[in-house]
Amino acid sequence: MRFLFVGFGTVGQGLAELLLEKKTTLEKEFGLVYKIVGILDKELGNVFSPDGLDLQEALEAVQTQKSLADLAGEHLAGEAAEIISQVEADVLIEVTYTDIKTGQPATSHIRQALEKGMHVVTTNKGPVALYYEELTELARAQQVQFLFEGTVMSGTPVLSLFRETLAGCEVQEIKGILNGTTNYILTRMEEGLSYEDALKKAQEFGYAEAVPDADVLGWDALAKVTILAKVVFGSRAKPFDFPCEGITGITSSAVVDALSRGKRYKLIGRVWRERNLIKAEVAPEEIDISHPLGSVMGATNALTILTDTLGEITIVGPGAGRRETGFSLLSDLIRIARQQK
Ligand code: HSE
Repeated sequence: MRFLFVGFGTVGQGLAELLLEKKTTLEKEFGLVYKIVGILDKELGNVFSPDGLDLQEALEAVQTQKSLADLAGEHLAGEAAEIISQVEADVLIEVTYTDIKTGQPATSHIRQALEKGMHVVTTNKGPVALYYEELTELARAQQVQFLFEGTVMSGTPVLSLFRETLAGCEVQEIKGILNGTTNYILTRMEEGLSYEDALKKAQEFGYAEAVPDADVLGWDALAKVTILAKVVFGSRAKPFDFPCEGITGITSSAVVDALSRGKRYKLIGRVWRERNLIKAEVAPEEIDISHPLGSVMGATNALTILTDTLGEITIVGPGAGRRETGFSLLSDLIRIARQQK
């Protein structure tokens, strides 16, 4: 399969490292033989080669602050969507930054690739939260895959869990911690760090969104809740149709006071069915520390799923990070490779 990267920041590089590390396993176990025909990044430049690029060399270049334009290959000019239309590839790996309000420029990249008959894998929440219906319909019409496992809980398998193993179970409510940055901040505040210092640390670790407001105001969790509402409950709502409150109003003393009462503040995203309506919200909540969500600390995410058949299931795992989010793309790519066999 010929892969085209659009975006080559933390997540793209995380996937590239996994592709190199697991090359032999991918070939042997899944028949996934790949070559990278292009990498396109607004900041880092671009490089293309129909015969396949040296991915290790590309990684070393960006990690030593060199431009991709310095590497051997073609260097195309113009807007990314236009370039996508010119490059021959089988899969677009869309890992540019998330814009939750407009979904751009990622949505244009994805539309262009799907219209061209390419599969698309992405961790970009904007296009899915805003244009899921249109993009899945376009993929269906083009008989290609549009996969976005990493948009919710990064590499922790959530969307595939609903799609595959929970199929046949009626999901009544989903409730959980969907944003690593805010959970990390709340954890560190409990240990005595100030809000500002904790946020700075989360940014250093690479958990935070390009615009930190998107985390602390709850927008990132809102995008994920909206994706769950669409994929699991068939909602057609847009993110800002649902109520959303972040963690900016929570003080260190409120965190310490909650703990003294056996509770912890968590930013909770929730989706549920109420008669014929699909409801969702994001808001801070005091959670009992004995509840599975009450002991989820740091950048870890967790979802408690209430079902008609199995009662409650809680899945806990990484919700952000270079390698963790890179892995979600790898699992989407393996899914495509398996279906091509
Ligand atoms: N900023 C997000 C978080 C990244 O902190 O959870 C993963 O979507």
